Amino acid sequence: MLIAPVVPVLLCAPKFLDGSMSLGQVMQAASAFTIVQGAFGWLVDNYPRLADWNACARRVASLMVSLDGLEQAEESETVGRIKRGEAQSETVLELDEVSVSLGDGTAVVKETQVKIEPGERVLVAGESGSGKSTLVRAIAGLWAWGSGRVDFRPDMQLFMLPQKPYIPSGTLRRAVAYPKPADSWTADEIHSALEKVGLAHLNDKLEEEAPWDHTLSGGEKQRLAFARLLLNDPDIIVLDEATSALDDKTQHKIMQVMIDELPNATILSVAHRVELEEFHSRKITLEKRDGGARLVSDVDLSPYARKRHVLSNPSGAPGTYAVTVPAVNATLTPASFCRDSICPPTARPR
Ligand SMILES: Nc1ncnc2c1ncn2[C@@H]1O[C@H](COP(=O)(O)OP(=O)(O)O)[C@@H](O)[C@H]1O
Ligand SMILES: [Mg+2]
Repeated sequence: MLIAPVVPVLLCAPKFLDGSMSLGQVMQAASAFTIVQGAFGWLVDNYPRLADWNACARRVASLMVSLDGLEQAEESETVGRIKRGEAQSETVLELDEVSVSLGDGTAVVKETQVKIEPGERVLVAGESGSGKSTLVRAIAGLWAWGSGRVDFRPDMQLFMLPQKPYIPSGTLRRAVAYPKPADSWTADEIHSALEKVGLAHLNDKLEEEAPWDHTLSGGEKQRLAFARLLLNDPDIIVLDEATSALDDKTQHKIMQVMIDELPNATILSVAHRVELEEFHSRKITLEKRDGGARLVSDVDLSPYARKRHVLSNPSGAPGTYAVTVPAVNATLTPASFCRDSICPPTARPR
């Protein structure tokens, strides 16, 4: 407002000319005008900051409400807790009459009984909203309410890939290394993992700081999560619709890379795409019912995978399905260097 200092002078000019105002009084009036105008302008100048502050205050308030809700649910005696312990013998993961309920006691999944042996690749299927993600969260230790027992082999590390991977702010190297520190792997190791998941074009940008969460597409984020998986080399992999944003061809390639690179890993994956069956040895299906979803079928997929192989490769020549026959009961190597995974310490098998 370049004309703002002139306005009071112009307004006072007639009085100054007829001698009823001195020059000092005109200057005082001009100065007072500027102060009042500045005070009115404060709101306009600070409006974006006020909007920011309001948004932050709302986020903090909703976090506090959620934390209060969590505290109440934790204190409530009406809803039980899922017990966690060590699996006996060779079994990698055992669900013993596991029921998962919401904080208010509503059952989502009822009395699930599953035993997963080393090297098995289990597909969890079921209609949307049947409780697949809730069950997987309970297995990973991210959901405590319910009843029954979840037992793990104590020497095994679990790594969970959610549908929407978390991408921290900062460099791309940090995003790939998450949840470990950014310098946990050499540039060569990260380059190799990114290449395997089809993200070689990001290799030059490893040290670049950018809002990667907004920059990468949904499919690229999911591929980045698979790169984390390859770097961490866990014993148990839990996938929750982890390939949902990928096209069929890329999904096939990524699943194949995962199986080739981590042949001994035990996999538990939630997915609804039928193409994924060929990468699994067993399929369990949850069905939504009143009072909580139930496990309605537990099918061995191995013969199906072999049949697909025969049908797609009548000549017996090496083809896409040749390596998809699952290695059931493969021998597991001892726990590898993966000490941290996406699941928090409480979620890890003890
Ligand atoms: N935190 C939660 N609070 C309330 N309801 C939830 C919560 N998590 C899941 N649900 C409900 O539990 C049911 C199962 O959800 P989910 O496990 O995400 O299904 P799926 O993964 O099989 O599609 C849904 O009806 C969903 O609305
Ligand atoms: Mg889900």
